[in-house]
Amino acid sequence: MKEFFLLDPKITYLNFGSFGACPQPVFEAYQKLQLQLEQSPVQFIVHSGMELLKSSRLRLASYLVCDPDSLVLMTNPSYAINTIAKSIPLAKGDEVLTTNLEYGAMDRTWNYYCEKSGAKYKKSNINFPIESVNSFLEDFWAGYNEKTKVVFISHITSSTGLILPVKEICEEAKRRGLCTVIDGAHAPGQLTLNIRELDADIYVGACHKWMMAPKGASFLYVKKKQQHWVDPLLISWGFKSDTPSHSTFLDYHETAGTRDFSAFLAVPYSIDFMSKHDWVKKRLLCQEKTLLWANKFQEFWNFQSIAPISKVFIGQMYSIPIETQDIGALKSALYDRFNIEVPVFMNEDQVFIRFSFQVFNSDEDMQRLFDAMKTLNEEGYFRIKTFV
Ligand SMILES: Cc1ncc(COP(=O)(O)O)c(C=O)c1O
Repeated sequence: MKEFFLLDPKITYLNFGSFGACPQPVFEAYQKLQLQLEQSPVQFIVHSGMELLKSSRLRLASYLVCDPDSLVLMTNPSYAINTIAKSIPLAKGDEVLTTNLEYGAMDRTWNYYCEKSGAKYKKSNINFPIESVNSFLEDFWAGYNEKTKVVFISHITSSTGLILPVKEICEEAKRRGLCTVIDGAHAPGQLTLNIRELDADIYVGACHKWMMAPKGASFLYVKKKQQHWVDPLLISWGFKSDTPSHSTFLDYHETAGTRDFSAFLAVPYSIDFMSKHDWVKKRLLCQEKTLLWANKFQEFWNFQSIAPISKVFIGQMYSIPIETQDIGALKSALYDRFNIEVPVFMNEDQVFIRFSFQVFNSDEDMQRLFDAMKTLNEEGYFRIKTFV
């Protein structure tokens, strides 16, 4: 599949997780949409583009299996989570229960708004190595008490690359009467989603990561019964609209001033691209490769994996725990000396090298990472962390 991507061929690209990459046919469709916008700005922004936006939303809703009137396209997960955290009704003393594995920008967002309302953003400590789904759930719910009102959790974590048991969390949260906010930035395109079945109150996802849409395409889903308290992050023509639609939720959140929303309109092209190329089968093969290489790394370095190397916890990303004095130097050495794009991340005080395996990656790419890591380890750039 390499020929479909615009990535620099000199670079071994093992960081699909950060910003995805848009295949050429999807990118071309996106550029055509941008051209149409520039050729006829008024017609496009006011009329034809709006029609296309509606079809994009309907198409995405059917891909995600959710009510199309509860779904809005937004620029990025940050925008969507800010929308929620800013307006969620929290009183002084209320708690938002989360984990210590969340994405840093999301932690900051929740901390910011919780500080304003006097609520507490509380992290349950997830112990490494995670032994099983049950041990994870035990660690997570240990942070619960009668002040907990909201649960916020990633479907797939960022720096640790783990699939979390959000279905079980949503079920239990419902029993306890809590509102569930799922950060699914990495999920669409990496997992088969069925938002209706998952039954989260709020689900946020990126289309520009694993769905391969152009940058700036993401979504916010809010279940009907929760929509009444969700304020627009940006007040525009949709507030007290002169031409209200059947949904205040859509009116409020779909208008956001003048902007280039071509990336939103390109989403159906990325869905088409995936179905044309039998994506479910392809990504499952990538998952097999991820597991295979996770095992190879684990066996060679003899470290304790932070979670079982199985399809329950691992999708197309795997994080290797390391210790290093200088993350920047390690990252630069991997890129400058070995032409490998692979992230070195911190989660709390633990450092990880996280590799992503996408359709254009090969065993040779992984072997290159393996060899580079061996050399850099011998040169003292990092040590493997064992946890024992
Ligand atoms: C788990 C998770 N949540 C949220 C985000 C935020 O994405 P953005 O910065 O595009 O808003 C990311 C980005 O990588 C992420 O990994």
